[in-house]
Amino acid sequence: MNLTLKIWRQKDQKSSGKMMDYKVNGISPDSSFLEMMDVLNEGLISKGEEPVEFDHDCREGICGMCSLYINGEAHGPDRAVTTCQLHMRKFKDGETVTIEPWRAKAFPVLKDLKVDRSSFERIQQAGGFISVNTSGNTQDANATPISKHNADKAMDAATCIGCGACVATCKNASAMLFVGAKVAQFSLLPQGRVERKDRVLNMVKQMDLEGFGNCTNTGACEVECPKGISLENIAMMNREYLKASITKED
Ligand code: SF4
Ligand code: FES
Repeated sequence: MNLTLKIWRQKDQKSSGKMMDYKVNGISPDSSFLEMMDVLNEGLISKGEEPVEFDHDCREGICGMCSLYINGEAHGPDRAVTTCQLHMRKFKDGETVTIEPWRAKAFPVLKDLKVDRSSFERIQQAGGFISVNTSGNTQDANATPISKHNADKAMDAATCIGCGACVATCKNASAMLFVGAKVAQFSLLPQGRVERKDRVLNMVKQMDLEGFGNCTNTGACEVECPKGISLENIAMMNREYLKASITKED
């Protein structure tokens, strides 16, 4: 396959960027999108030009690092896959492919296609954990009965990989699908209920401090999420938040 790529190039956080055109030839339809980007970069390096920076790590849909906005869609035209799992057979020979970074105030562009998603880490640090006794007397997890329904819902929420596609897709740059998943995965389980009020209040507070927008129930985040995280998690977070706001004692 021969392709024309229109790629966002930006020197650093302070510089303004622009779209630039590149040609890549002889791409196998069976190669992944990131392998195609590797071919582009090898060509640029061999010509003495600066390669295009983009984030990636596992290349298996696990780490949530790959974050490209391809032809106007977060993670590209396929459904329920990350950019690293996207294959070139989803594109046509001769096609022009537009590649941009996530666009959101809370995800500033660091260079080219790489953005700073440390705002997600700060939200996690605000409450995305449980406090457990690790002194050697840790209770066997199997000793705590959990309903199949709640276990399944918690597992579904826990599949969120923190990629940020929900934010990039949302017209309000809302992080509520991500935060909803992180709140729900603990609130549904007995181990997470102890700190549930502080968790939701602190995580939502941090989310607002980071500059993410609000949810207006468009649902684009659910469509583009590579892990199929449901909007139900946002509803659960809103219920948790309301209950915590009313009943929290200080
Ligand atoms: S909710 Fe989905 S799109 Fe958002 S960070 Fe988690 S996995 Fe990515
Ligand atoms: S590189 Fe890890 S999810 Fe894509």
